[in-house]
Amino acid sequence: MGLPFFQINGTNRLRGQVRIGGAKNAALPIMAASLLCEGEVILHDVPRVADVAFLGELLGMLGVEVERRPDGALRLVVQDEMNCQAEYDIVRKMRASICVLGPLLAKRHKAQVAMPGGCAIGDRPVDLHIRAMRLLGADVELVSGDIVGKAKKLRGTEMFLGGPFGSSVLGTANAMMAAVLAEGTTVIEMAACEPEIVDLADFLNKCGASISGQGTPRIIIEGVRELKGCEYRIIPDRIEAGTFMVAAAITNGELDLENCRLDHLLAFVDRLAAVGVQVERKGELVTVSSSRRLEPIEVTTQPFPGMPTDLQAQLMALLCLADGNSIITEKIFPDRFLHVAELSRMGARLHKAGPTVIVQGVKRLVGAPVMASDLRASAALVLAGLAARGTTRIHRIYHIDRGYERIDEKLRGVGAEIERLEGDQE
Ligand code: EPZ
Repeated sequence: MGLPFFQINGTNRLRGQVRIGGAKNAALPIMAASLLCEGEVILHDVPRVADVAFLGELLGMLGVEVERRPDGALRLVVQDEMNCQAEYDIVRKMRASICVLGPLLAKRHKAQVAMPGGCAIGDRPVDLHIRAMRLLGADVELVSGDIVGKAKKLRGTEMFLGGPFGSSVLGTANAMMAAVLAEGTTVIEMAACEPEIVDLADFLNKCGASISGQGTPRIIIEGVRELKGCEYRIIPDRIEAGTFMVAAAITNGELDLENCRLDHLLAFVDRLAAVGVQVERKGELVTVSSSRRLEPIEVTTQPFPGMPTDLQAQLMALLCLADGNSIITEKIFPDRFLHVAELSRMGARLHKAGPTVIVQGVKRLVGAPVMASDLRASAALVLAGLAARGTTRIHRIYHIDRGYERIDEKLRGVGAEIERLEGDQE
């Protein structure tokens, strides 16, 4: 039996209602934060995606009992605090494993986490994570490819957490999770403002932490003695919502999105409006529809509240069909353009120069066999396949399963012709 792949027959107009799931990138750090808590943590709306399963596996190795309850909620309880090591085998599968570093140092006073290394979207340094732990008083060294940290007691401090590409989302998460149990007050300047950071802070506060300023570049944390588990609902996934918005637009269809927070997507919706895609709130739903003619635009990815890098590839798929030349600049991960070569196989006209891609709009895309390379690049290929004439086969779809729950079923539910097949082709 071969690996699963998607087969898409394009050009169907999508119509209907889709429920957006809980945010993967909020769920992962919040799951890691369960390491800090006494008693049960119950999380609602944790998506059933491969990255959640990987982190569940790692937390299991770290002595946390992780189970899905019959109602779908995820229950996490720390049972054993002996092991403090996240091995390379699991960290290399998922970079977000780095977010156990802060909680382990804060609660177990030691941590050994394999250095994640680079990945398909480019260099992914962790210097800001290490800087934050050191500033809080931990003794951190690199030993044979592992980050090894010790700290009898972490102490609150003022820290600047900016790097050459601005703030760091998981760096801020790690600093915050380490500082909640530190002695005294911690101030994080140039903190990430992403909604997923606000969600983590709100979760920690519900567990008894004292965090303010989340959602702004200055987060203030008053250390507390202990955190108790709580029951919490994860915010909706803004990247999944944005992906379905493009699905509606690229097929000239109309979708109603349930569980969608427009306030988390203002920059993206602004760019969609410039393209000619209407996004409106109608009661509990967000309705997305598009005019026939797509206008070309200029867009630059930025930290929140700017245009998210995690929607750059999907927007590029849409702009391939605009009536003119668009310019996309990637300011967070300048090499995050693996989808360019694959979209070109489907008839897109793309010209890459450094961190910028000029997208020359074409009248139509054509189906082709293509290869998924990272999570969001794969989503872009699915979107292009939905609009393309003929059949598109997307291989290596394990990338997409890392972060989208049942994307094929959800798309089929609104009229797409997409099948998950198994075969010998790589
Ligand atoms: C988070 O990764 C997300 N992952 C990514 O989502 C997302 O693309 C990224 O934030 C940016 O929004 C999770 O939340 C699990 P960063 P993270 O640290 O936190 C540089 C997806 O598709 N940097 O905010 O690892 C870095 O190279 C994924 O769901 C340093 O210089 O990203 C980049 O240029 C992929 N030093 C910039 O900061 C550091 O120590 C922002 O990265 C850390 C980062």
